[in-house]
Amino acid sequence: MIPSVLPTYNRAPLAFERGEGTWLIAADGTRYLDFGAGIAVNALGHAHPALVAALTAQAGRLWHLSNLYQIPEQVALADALVEKTFADTVFFTNSGTESCELAVKMARKYWHDRGQPDRVNIVTFSGAFHGRSSAGIAAAGSEKMTHGFGPLLPGFIHLPFGVHGSVLQNAIDENVAAILVEPVQGEGGIRPLPAPCLQGLRELCDQTGSLLIYDEVQCGMGRTGRLFAHEWAAGAAPDIMMVAKGIGGGFPLGAVLATEQAASGMTAGTHGSTYGGNPLACAVGKTVLDIVAQPDFLDEVNRKAGLLRQRLEGLVASHPDIFEEVRGMGLMLGLKCKVTNTDVVQAGYARHLLTVPAADNVVRLLPPLTITDDEIAEALSRLDAAAAALAGKEATQ
Ligand SMILES: Cc1ncc(COP(=O)(O)O)c(C=O)c1O
Repeated sequence: MIPSVLPTYNRAPLAFERGEGTWLIAADGTRYLDFGAGIAVNALGHAHPALVAALTAQAGRLWHLSNLYQIPEQVALADALVEKTFADTVFFTNSGTESCELAVKMARKYWHDRGQPDRVNIVTFSGAFHGRSSAGIAAAGSEKMTHGFGPLLPGFIHLPFGVHGSVLQNAIDENVAAILVEPVQGEGGIRPLPAPCLQGLRELCDQTGSLLIYDEVQCGMGRTGRLFAHEWAAGAAPDIMMVAKGIGGGFPLGAVLATEQAASGMTAGTHGSTYGGNPLACAVGKTVLDIVAQPDFLDEVNRKAGLLRQRLEGLVASHPDIFEEVRGMGLMLGLKCKVTNTDVVQAGYARHLLTVPAADNVVRLLPPLTITDDEIAEALSRLDAAAAALAGKEATQ
């Protein structure tokens, strides 16, 4: 019999009753160290007092208001994002996949309104993940995500990850509306695009007129030690950027940020969302942004990221049969495994450590940005024990 919850997830037999910072607590009181953070969502950990206060204060005033009216909380968050980024304007969504939908629509409408209605193609890269909507799965294009869901939204050109030079240049013809890329692939196995690659994409877009869209749903909001990951690459700002996950700190919130020019086709009536920019979400999002965008906060993320990376390099060196390498940026790190990555995740569960598998046999480490040095040390000792147990198992096989 089908379960009451549609079984589209392979769920671990773990349930939690509450959260405190980097910890999730089961009904029997067992504490789990959370190095998944809802897959890069709980940027400030669980039950952060400032977020609880922002949410409850807003809940006592006003929950929902149609976008037919002015929403001051939405304007406040949009103003702050515009002030801190390349963007001139922001549309709020409820998730990353909705941000993908709008990014695709915006790029196509831009060229339509410029008298080039055939300029509809969006170039994407293998290993990408842009969400589970029809546009999201067509954008990623992998068999795993698209199988059985045809006919797919047309107009996506899939290139191999890391492609550059003439192969890339030749793919950008007069019908390419935009290039869509994650500055650091998350689901694809924590694969950063080095700064020169982002700069090369920016140059190529400048030469051809194509729009550059970044998907910073997973790598944005302080995760890599800058407010947005592309900021590590000077002069490589996008025209359009998808955001979600961390911006809501656990409350459903997404956004599409854009330059005035890229957004020029999106006039009244061209797009909408009942809940997008909801006062509750925006009140929480503004509080997350006020904290994460502080230079001292980001300095701390970078310091702790350095510590975590150094400790992980040591772990890989101590367990060469289990791990191959550490990769990623900031607090978006991956352990490329030699054994099956899900075995490492399971061995972590057994030691009350939560990590997340990704493609390319990688285990993702995405702790809350508020993690402490002691919690990093604790996670490493649990990972070390997990690796030792797996090595023992290998040895006896
Ligand atoms: C890079 C990226 N884009 C888009 C999405 C889709 O976001 P959501 O699950 O909020 O729809 C995700 C989710 O994992 C993501 O990592």
